Amino acid sequence: MNWVKKDLLGIKGLTKEEILFILETAESFKEISLREIKKVPTLRGKTIITLFYEPSTRTRTSFEIAAKRLSADTINISASTSSYVKGETLKDTAKNLESMRPDVIIIRHSMPGAPHMLAGMIDSSVVNGGDGSHEHPTQALLDLYTIKEKKGRLDGLKIVIIGDIIHSRVARSNIFALRHFNVDIVCSGPPTMMPPNLEELGVRVEYDMNKAVEDADVIMMLRIQKERGGTSYIPSIREYSTLYGLKASHIERAKKDVIIMHPGPINRGVEITDEVADGPYSVILDQVENGVAVRMGILYLLTGSAS
Ligand code: CP
Repeated sequence: MNWVKKDLLGIKGLTKEEILFILETAESFKEISLREIKKVPTLRGKTIITLFYEPSTRTRTSFEIAAKRLSADTINISASTSSYVKGETLKDTAKNLESMRPDVIIIRHSMPGAPHMLAGMIDSSVVNGGDGSHEHPTQALLDLYTIKEKKGRLDGLKIVIIGDIIHSRVARSNIFALRHFNVDIVCSGPPTMMPPNLEELGVRVEYDMNKAVEDADVIMMLRIQKERGGTSYIPSIREYSTLYGLKASHIERAKKDVIIMHPGPINRGVEITDEVADGPYSVILDQVENGVAVRMGILYLLTGSAS
């Protein structure tokens, strides 16, 4: 297929074919990161800007590494060191950056819809690097890539997502992506952290975590989004950890070859124990590794380098 979309703003706007095409494209880039010289000239002459209004370790670094491995020029802008602190609006920032002719801008913002607004104002491609509680499409794509890599398929799996679902852009994007496949998606967490319309998205809700993880192929843990007021939705961290923290006893209830995922950053001892996060079922660092390949694929497609 030919990639025709200018932007990657969310999973909701993608077809199953487009999702699979991104995963296939990413696959072709993965081995570049295993070479001694981790660089190909594919995006030489292209300019990629990361514009982050919220903190990030994985997303921003892996976009920069992805761009550099494809020989693009990269510029990183953080809100705290930009003219945002002097009162510049997102619109003015976008228009000024556009004047410097970047090919792709990757934006992370606390305001849902900020990437969509940006995309409507500029000709450069825009990638959503996470917008509030709304979507985190590149995280979901790297998650699907990792599940497919480890399980050999997506169809027929039981995938359990546990934690602060209501504030999680990772959960939303994963649900939008996974419902294209024949997947049993189960969400678990405190009732206060479940969006009211969750079942309408094709998801089963199971508040008892012990039941939720029964025969799971994949367990995806989420952290409490403190920056979005997540801690005010639960009586205490201690109680949350007792009821919804992933422990070795949960692994025993899941399938023998279950994989444990987490988008990061981890709050060790809260939503997951050290033993499980660092244990043999954890693929958390594989997710990070695959994030580079998936983001290489996305930059390649959006810059029109495939045509
Ligand atoms: N998963 C994720 O988005 O991590 P960062 O916040 O470190 O980018």
